Amino acid sequence: MGKSLFDETKILYFGIQKGGAAKSTTAAATAHILARRGWRVLAVDLDSQGNLTNLLSDVDDIYEFTGKTALEAMKAIDEPGESIVKNYVHQVGERLDLMPSEDFMATLSRWLYREFEHYHPGRNPGLVLSLALEKILAVRDYNFVVIDSPPSLGDQSINGMAAATHVVSLFEPSKFCLDALPRFFETVFHVRNQLNPKLQVAGILATMVDKRRSDAKLLLETLSEDEVYGPMLFSSRVYRRAATGRLNLQGFAANSELRPALKEYEDFVEELLTRL
Ligand SMILES: Nc1ncnc2c1ncn2[C@@H]1O[C@H](COP(=O)(O)OP(=O)(O)O)[C@@H](O)[C@H]1O
Ligand SMILES: [Mg+2]
Repeated sequence: MGKSLFDETKILYFGIQKGGAAKSTTAAATAHILARRGWRVLAVDLDSQGNLTNLLSDVDDIYEFTGKTALEAMKAIDEPGESIVKNYVHQVGERLDLMPSEDFMATLSRWLYREFEHYHPGRNPGLVLSLALEKILAVRDYNFVVIDSPPSLGDQSINGMAAATHVVSLFEPSKFCLDALPRFFETVFHVRNQLNPKLQVAGILATMVDKRRSDAKLLLETLSEDEVYGPMLFSSRVYRRAATGRLNLQGFAANSELRPALKEYEDFVEELLTRL
């Protein structure tokens, strides 16, 4: 685990605008596994549903974080890094910190276009998270930042992609998810051209794969034969299983079925590391 492997912080954006594709589950599992393997990890929740916040913190009520979330961290980009870390970064495990989210995250766009643009003329509203992370990383040395995103291609997602070094797309084998991919990657490449030239695609992870369903198998085959998306697919797959679905009830701390729940995610993280 030489630090030389990752001299620079790897910032991983997990996304797809289709809801229920295991973005939050995957982001949480990845953050947890990386931290357990000895890396210093910051998890960032950009979804106003606060699912990543719920998964990784032991608070039942995400409103405990009201006023102390990633939204306020973005609003605080003119403050020193130390104060951003102190106010908006919360330790949730060994080597694992969290910038949480709750409902107010949904007001990001209103703030960006009514206030941020007004008070910061000439600065790009897509780069606010990137600026906040820059300040945080100047005072805290993380090996990985793991970003979870909402099921849309709005300002949270643009900011997440603009701050990232790598994108992981989730693919849950359904027609709607297949239909979502072209627009998702169009957005990724748009962000790369306009805001973040260093952004790379790490790959597409198939999740919630139901072994018993032939339509799921067919959709996965269609994707793996596609000349654009096929080569992006990770060979690791995450199957639909009760233990993984129950992570949102059991959490990561005292969960007796953590090993079966994370089984395939261990392989995914291994493969992901070879692609960074
Ligand atoms: N591999 C899996 N097997 C079974 N259920 C899963 C699996 N992955 C995720 N889930 C469940 O599916 C639902 C959607 O997952 P979630 O991670 O919230 O997706 P998203 O963030 O893309 O909306 C959640 O209830 C979650 O617990
Ligand atoms: Mg989610």
